[in-house]
Amino acid sequence: MEEKQHIGQLFDRIARTYDGLNHGLSLNIDRAWRRKTVEMMPPAQHVLDVAIGTADLTIEMLRRGKAEQVTGIDLSEQMMQIGFRKCARYSLLVNFVHGDARKMPFEDDSFDGVTCAFGCRNFSDPDAGLREMHRVLKPGGQVTILEFSYPTNRLVRALYDIYFTRVLPLIGRMVSHDKTAYTYLNRSVKSFCWGEAFIQHLHDAGFRDEHFTPLTFGIATIYTAVKK
Ligand SMILES: C[S@@+](CC[C@H](N)C(=O)[O-])C[C@H]1O[C@@H](n2cnc3c(N)ncnc32)[C@H](O)[C@@H]1O
Repeated sequence: MEEKQHIGQLFDRIARTYDGLNHGLSLNIDRAWRRKTVEMMPPAQHVLDVAIGTADLTIEMLRRGKAEQVTGIDLSEQMMQIGFRKCARYSLLVNFVHGDARKMPFEDDSFDGVTCAFGCRNFSDPDAGLREMHRVLKPGGQVTILEFSYPTNRLVRALYDIYFTRVLPLIGRMVSHDKTAYTYLNRSVKSFCWGEAFIQHLHDAGFRDEHFTPLTFGIATIYTAVKK
């Protein structure tokens, strides 16, 4: 099956239980991570939220006045449908676009800011996604990325490994009734780069002034960079 279809379908399958599992499995820490991500964004008029999913990051930035207008793009229609309903509940008008982050249907220099929460490691070609984010961002605009990373402390790492390889796939399978999705989550986190290595990918995509901020013992990291 084509990679693009496969990831979209995987998230379509787990869309209904995605938010509940996210908040439950992370003990709501994911909400604090998104809040911190939004704090690190400069206010911007029109923001593109790449891999918008169920729109949690979008809702946070709009409610905190960090963006006046948001366009979101995602491969999974089911995830975006849930996001659309949540935005409607808060009377937030968001433009949802069904499409691929690796080849986005937007003009060069279209957005004042670009964000992406827990999306990059899902792209089959993350560098293509980063190059596209750079292309559609206006010069002077900031990209703000939230992604899982791998703790450096040995004790935290051991606990993290147990949680991610045993507890999380088991609960994920029971609640979402999907055999593979939460094993995939664990594999995708482990095989993705973080910290300085990810900064290098941002640099190669054309970004400058790159910074990263580890959160909660390095379980997640926020990356910021600017298009010059
Ligand atoms: C873990 S979810 C994150 C959703 C949301 N940003 C959040 O913070 O909860 C990853 C999302 O990335 C989307 N995705 C994966 N590959 C993609 C691609 N190539 N282009 C656009 N979206 C993609 C999936 O459909 C899914 O909605």
